[in-house]
Amino acid sequence: MNVTIVGTGYVGLVTGACLAELGNHVFCLDLDQDKVAMLQRGVIPIYEPGLQELVDRNVEEGRLTFSSDVEASIAFGDVQFIAVGTPPDEDGDADLRHVFAAARAIGRHMERSKVIVQKSTVPVGTGELVSAVVREELEARDKEIEYAVVSNPEFLKEGCAIDDFMHPDRIILGVGDDLPGRRALLMMRQLYLPFNRNHERTRVMDVRSAELAKYAANAMLATRISFMNELANLADRLGADIELVRQGIGADPRIGYSFLYAGTGYGGSCFPKDVEALCRTAQAQGQRLQVLEAVQAVNQVQKHVLLDKVFAHFGPNLRGRSFAVYGLAFKPDTDDMREAPSRVLVAGLLRAGASVVAHDPVAQEQAARALAQDLADAPHLLERLSYVAKPADALREADALVLVTEWKHYRSPPLAAMKKLMRSPLVFDGRNLWDPHQLATAGVTYVGVGRNN
Ligand code: UGA
Repeated sequence: MNVTIVGTGYVGLVTGACLAELGNHVFCLDLDQDKVAMLQRGVIPIYEPGLQELVDRNVEEGRLTFSSDVEASIAFGDVQFIAVGTPPDEDGDADLRHVFAAARAIGRHMERSKVIVQKSTVPVGTGELVSAVVREELEARDKEIEYAVVSNPEFLKEGCAIDDFMHPDRIILGVGDDLPGRRALLMMRQLYLPFNRNHERTRVMDVRSAELAKYAANAMLATRISFMNELANLADRLGADIELVRQGIGADPRIGYSFLYAGTGYGGSCFPKDVEALCRTAQAQGQRLQVLEAVQAVNQVQKHVLLDKVFAHFGPNLRGRSFAVYGLAFKPDTDDMREAPSRVLVAGLLRAGASVVAHDPVAQEQAARALAQDLADAPHLLERLSYVAKPADALREADALVLVTEWKHYRSPPLAAMKKLMRSPLVFDGRNLWDPHQLATAGVTYVGVGRNN
C-alpha cells in the first residue's frame, strides 16, 4: 500500500519506518526542511533503540522516503496518517494547530479518494473537526472526492516503540458507519493484516470512543502509578515495604503487576499532558474528573519525594555537600527530558547549595539544555553541576548517591566503588531498584521510596 505520514516526530517516524518494514511504500512529510535534510542524510533526531537500523534499511530498499514537498507527498498515499505534535497550549489544552494544518493541506491537494488517519492524541470530537476542515478545502476547490477520517490512536512506549508497533496488543480503529467509513475500514484492516494473522487484535468502534480510549488508557496507567506512590508514602510512615505490597497485590490477575512501581512520579510527554487534557475536556462538559485531579496532585508531590528525603537526612542547607545522580531521562532507553523528575531533584539540590555530578547513558546533552531552562533565573548554579562519562566517577567524594532513572546500566549496585569513593556510603534509590538488605549487609545506608522498614 502507498502510505503518507504527515509529521516526522516520534510517532510519525516510528509508524513510517515500521509500515515500510512491513512492505508498504511510505512517504514521510515534514515542513521542517532542515529536519527532512537530516533524515535524508540518515540522521535520526531522536534516540529510540532499533529505529536507526530500521530507517536505514527501508530507505536503502526504496520503501521509505522523506520529503518536504507537500503536494507530492499528499498525492502519494492512499492512506494519510496525521502524526503531528499536539503540545499543551498555555492553558493545558491540546494545541491542534498542526493537526488542522495537516488536514487543510490534505484537503487542498488531494485529487483522489483518501483515508485520513488521525494518529496524534487529540481531544474527543477532533475527528469531526478534521473532517470538516477537509470538506471545506474540497468545497473551496469545487471537488467531490470521497474521504473518511479514521481515529487510530497509538500506544507506543518510548524506548520500546518498535516492538510495541510490531507486536500490538490491540489496534483501535474508530470509523464512521457510512459508506466511506466502511471502505476506509477495509483499507485499514488490509494495512494491519500482518498483525492479525493468528489473533484478531483490531477493535472497531466509532471515532469518539476511539479518541476517548486513548486518553482513558494513559489516565488509567497514570492513576495506578499515583495510587502506588501515595501508598508508598504511607508505607514509609507505617514501616511497611511497598515492593512487597506490590508483589502481594499484583498476583491478583484483576490487578496485575505492571505499572505498579512506586518511584519519583511519572514524567514524559504523554501522561502529564494527557491527564491534564482529559481533565480539561471533562471541565468543558461541566464535569470534574476528581480521581484524575488527585492523580495529578499526587504526582506533583511525588516529584519532590527524593529531595524531601535528602532534606530529611541532611537538613535544608546543602552547602558544601556533593551528590552523585544516576539517570536523568524521564525513564530508561530514551533521551527525553520532558517532565523528567530528575529536573526537580537536580535543580532543588543546586538551589539548596549542593554540587551535583550526574550520569546518564544518553540524556546528558538534553539534560543540560533542560536544566539551563529550569535554572534560567539563577544560571550561576549550573557551575556546580557536572557530568561524567562513567557512573563510578560520579561517586568520588559524594555525600550520597541518588538514583532517579532505572537504566539497566545501574542494575547492580556498585558496592565496592560506593564504599571506596564516597564520603559516606549512602543511597537514595528513587526507583527501588536495589535490594535494601544487600546494601545494608555491605554497609551502605539505603533509603528507598516506601520501603524504610
Ligand atoms: C506512555 C504509555 O505507556 C504508552 O502506552 C503511550 O502510547 C504513550 O504514553 C503515549 O501516549 O504516547 P511513555 O510516556 O513512553 O508511554 O512511557 P511509560 O513507560 O508509560 O512511562 C511513563 C512514566 O511513568 C515514566 O516516567 C515512568 O518512569 C513512570 N512509571 C511507569 C512509574 O513511575 N511506575 C510504573 O510502574 C510505570
